[in-house]
Amino acid sequence: MDKKRLSIGFFDSGVGGISVLREAMKLMPNENYIYFGDSKNAPYGVKTVEEVQELSFKAVDFLLSKGVKAVVVACNTATSAAIEELRSFYKNIPIIGIEPALKPAVELNREGAVVIMATPMTLAEKKFNALQEKYKSQAQIAPLPCGGLVELIETGNIEGGVVEEYLREKFKEVNSDKIGAVVLGCTHYPFVRDSIINVLGQDIPVIDGSDGTSRHLKNILEDNAMLNPAEKQGKVEIYNSLENAAIIDLSYKLLNK
Ligand code: DGL
Repeated sequence: MDKKRLSIGFFDSGVGGISVLREAMKLMPNENYIYFGDSKNAPYGVKTVEEVQELSFKAVDFLLSKGVKAVVVACNTATSAAIEELRSFYKNIPIIGIEPALKPAVELNREGAVVIMATPMTLAEKKFNALQEKYKSQAQIAPLPCGGLVELIETGNIEGGVVEEYLREKFKEVNSDKIGAVVLGCTHYPFVRDSIINVLGQDIPVIDGSDGTSRHLKNILEDNAMLNPAEKQGKVEIYNSLENAAIIDLSYKLLNK
């Protein structure tokens, strides 16, 4: 098979990376996609770095066994823990990661703190610390570890009382009087964007990295002459380590949200 027509593989600790997949599909509708959610092992953000590395290698092996031309690590936590190791092991395939979209949030230049919602691991790892160092002279950066939020989203709790109550309590932990912007530094969180807006109000921008990552993916494929020349709409296949119908149903629901 012509390599250009192979699928693009995506993985995440669960259903979160679907927020990146749906952006990529908007940008490149004629590509084929294979998504792997590791919901059986979610959340990754409270595991050890070694455990997340091992799970990330397994996820990439699964995608490669299906035949993919590129891999998107659609998980901020796995990107922080494993992207360098993955790239140095799988040298013949582009591997694209995602990190909290601090740059666009800082560039808005709004009064108040830039709150970074992410998993405890993402915020503790050196990749995020380097990012924070880079922007800390331009804005007040307030990391907000959101343990427990991935679990709510994995069980389909994306709107209503329970998740809004979680968020209301969580934002009380922000170490600043005023919030200027919110960065969603975990790919699960775009699915609760409406709830975040309900809690914080319409005026605070809520930014995520899925669009930037998708554009980066497109550039990489373009530079390597790997874009799919097909003219018709591509296919999507979704797999999950949980192997139950409910998680696949939730995945498609989120893809079409
Ligand atoms: N979607 C993952 C991320 O972007 C969630 C990680 C987790 O399972 O804790 O970080």
